[in-house]
Parts: sequence; C-alpha cells; structure tokens
Amino acid sequence: MGFIDTHCHLNDESYEDVASIVEECRNQNIEKMICIGFDLPSSIRAVELANTYDIVYAAVGVHPDDADSYNDEVEKQLEALALNNKKVVAIGEIGLDYYWDKASHDTQKSVFAKQIELARRLNLPIIIHNRDAFMDTYEVLNEYAPLRGVMHCYSGSLEMAYNYMKQGLHISFAGPVTFKNAKTPKEVAKEIPLDRILVETDCPYLAPHPHRGKVNYPYFVNLVGKEVASLKGISEEELMEAESRNVRELFGI
Ligand code: NI
Repeated sequence: MGFIDTHCHLNDESYEDVASIVEECRNQNIEKMICIGFDLPSSIRAVELANTYDIVYAAVGVHPDDADSYNDEVEKQLEALALNNKKVVAIGEIGLDYYWDKASHDTQKSVFAKQIELARRLNLPIIIHNRDAFMDTYEVLNEYAPLRGVMHCYSGSLEMAYNYMKQGLHISFAGPVTFKNAKTPKEVAKEIPLDRILVETDCPYLAPHPHRGKVNYPYFVNLVGKEVASLKGISEEELMEAESRNVRELFGI
C-alpha cells in the first residue's frame, strides 16, 4: 500500500529521464500516478507514458491557458485517445485560469464546457484546474452537476469546498498544503470527509516542503500525504487506504 499521485506532469519537457523517475517512485512505494495532459501534444505524450509504465495512467485534455488551441479537430483527437487507450482514466486538466488570463474568459468557459461534455460522452471523470476563478468555475460546473471529478490542487475556502463536494466532486491537495503559512488548505484538509480526499504533486511545479522552489517529482506525494494525514489526526496507512478507495471509485483503477 502506498500513496497515489493523482496529478503529475511526467509529460513535461523538463523531465529528461522519465524511466529513472518511475523507478524511484517504485522504490518509494508510490502505488500509481496519473499523468495529466494540458494540450494535445502533452496528452499524446501522457498516453505514451501510460502505455510504457504499468503504474502510470493518463488524463487527456486542454488546460485553460491553452484554450485558444482548442477546436473540433483537437476534440476528435482527444476523444480517439480516450477511446483507443484503456489507461486514459479522465479528461483533464480543464477549467478556468483568470490569473494568467491567456485566453478570453468566454473562450475559456466554452472550452471548459465542451470538455465536460466530452467527458460525459466518454463516461469519464474530469480533472479541474481553477485559479482566481472560483465563482465562474462553480457556475460552469453547476450546469452539469452532479458530476464525477476532482478539484485539483485545491486552494479555496472550506465553504467553496463543500459547494464543490455537493456537485459530486472530490478535493485534491498538493504541495502548498505542506507550506507553513498555508492556513486555508490546512483547514480544508482537516475538515473535509476522508471519502472525498485525494493527494497529488502537480510536478514539476509546486514542490512540497522541504523542497519548496525546487523541481518536484511524483514521489514527493509522500510528503503531501504525510501532512494531510497528520492534519486529520490519522495514520498515513489510513489515509493511503482511503485514497486508494477514492481513486478506485473515481477513476476505476
Ligand atoms: Ni497540473
């Protein structure tokens, strides 16, 4: 039994030697990891990695920062990737990002909605990215609720977490929950029910303490899991068991 990194970017160009990273994950008892696409090429790469390594799974989708690259042809290719590869377990990451604001809000919302519809057709859960767009994200999701999916790298309030959970969603914690000044993520992790919790790294970004500011790796999910378990006052094994169950229910793996 080990933690599952439910959101990593092994497909990121900055990783040169993926084989040795996966090997280190095995050494550090990482049970599985889901490699997340953020545009079409990175989605194709995620599927390649999933088809290469038994413990790697894939999600395919277009991130809001790349919303301008989305069109019918891209959608067709994402759909084909999901239909032709058993290890594609979700559509993601999709959502809204008003911090970087790389595409207009209308474009971001429409690309988000189209990919929620794609996930529905494929009967797959969604992996949701949200930055500085909590209310709009909630409103787009509400048109489709109840949903299966996860709010990734959750950084919002406890109240919003309950609203998303009412829509059927899980809540995932990443490196920031380990930062000393991260009062809100710590509070949310402590309060929300165990059957809605996932952990992740979002690597290569957002390395957890004590690696903050450096390159992040999927096996650092152990540090995230350790912190969340301690916030909940349970053993790491109990959290691993709960996470495994949640991942099985949500992603079918
Ligand atoms: Ni990500």
